[in-house]
Amino acid sequence: MTDAPTLPELIDMQIRTSGPMSIASYMGLCLTHPSKGYYKSADPLGAKGDFVTAPEISQMFGELLGFFCVNVWQQMGSPKAFTLLELGPGRGTLMADMLRVACRAEGFRDALDLRLFETNPALIAEQNARLEAYGPKWIDAFEKVGDGPLLVVANEFFDALPIRQFVRMDDGWHERMVGLSEGRRSFGLNPTPIPPGAMPEAVADAAPNSVFEVGLANGEVMKRLASIVSTQGGAILAVDYGYARTQTGETLQGVRRHQYADVLDAPGETDLSAHVDFEALGNVAAKAGLAVQPLATQGDFLTRLGLNERAKALSAANPGSSADIAAAKARLAEPGQMGELFKAFCAHSPGLFPPGFAP
Ligand SMILES: C[S@@+](CC[C@H](N)C(=O)[O-])C[C@H]1O[C@@H](n2cnc3c(N)ncnc32)[C@H](O)[C@@H]1O
Repeated sequence: MTDAPTLPELIDMQIRTSGPMSIASYMGLCLTHPSKGYYKSADPLGAKGDFVTAPEISQMFGELLGFFCVNVWQQMGSPKAFTLLELGPGRGTLMADMLRVACRAEGFRDALDLRLFETNPALIAEQNARLEAYGPKWIDAFEKVGDGPLLVVANEFFDALPIRQFVRMDDGWHERMVGLSEGRRSFGLNPTPIPPGAMPEAVADAAPNSVFEVGLANGEVMKRLASIVSTQGGAILAVDYGYARTQTGETLQGVRRHQYADVLDAPGETDLSAHVDFEALGNVAAKAGLAVQPLATQGDFLTRLGLNERAKALSAANPGSSADIAAAKARLAEPGQMGELFKAFCAHSPGLFPPGFAP
């Protein structure tokens, strides 16, 4: 009996039979191939995994987002039933920290219907272990969120969705593809340019060889959620690395064991991600009738929510850990660390004033 093909073998076979594939198809296979995708196998988070996220750095991150949720829920009139949905909840750490704080608000826990959207079976098991007491339900389609007000949180979820890349040539924009050259995976261009006018105005004057990334999957997720929020009320909070204005630039990256890695090497074993175009996401939400807050840096967002005060209170309660707490605070909020690269985005029902954003 021959061994089942590995993911690299499957990808190379597909290219040999059907020709070069788009970067979106390549990312989709690498990240979420049903049995061999990066997000379908082991837990990729933490010191032993490939990367560390904000909730894994400090409980303060989740606690402040818990305060954010309570505040928005109260602004909505403390509805007796609402859905809190997390996209890509990782180990469940963010939600556990959020709910520890949020459930102190009278009526919040009784009103809560917790839903989680997750693809990784190993992480689902961890989420279950941490959140079981809140009766979470995992959903595989956003339409399954129930018909009450909806609060959505997502930390480092949108960056994990596939993007397409286009390169500006003399005769127009060509899609970048993954093909094989002398038996090795390599980038190339689709020889046919995309129709003129298909690119946004913002990149119309891009210089030759500029790269433009389009997050179609991001836009689709936002479109569906924004449409639900626009009829049922609520808010969508996303924290991620990305840029405020639609622009050119190549941000697709591979990370393995906390080091940058070649995107084309070791498919299925490397985390692939790309910066989020928040202007594009905001346009989709606005089109559905939602108000969109001016993008905030993660540092400003957390500071406005009370990061300094929370760090002080935690240090007072745990004097032996005050150096660690100060280091975690700096890591989350300092511009040279995560404070500026990461941004907070919020789209919501008109009439709400989500905390943490510029007044
Ligand atoms: C970078 S991790 C962030 C985890 C967590 N939010 C945190 O901050 O620690 C991305 C999360 O999104 C999940 N994910 C990635 N692609 C997904 C998809 N297409 N559908 C559902 N979940 C996905 C991953 O399994 C993981 O839980």
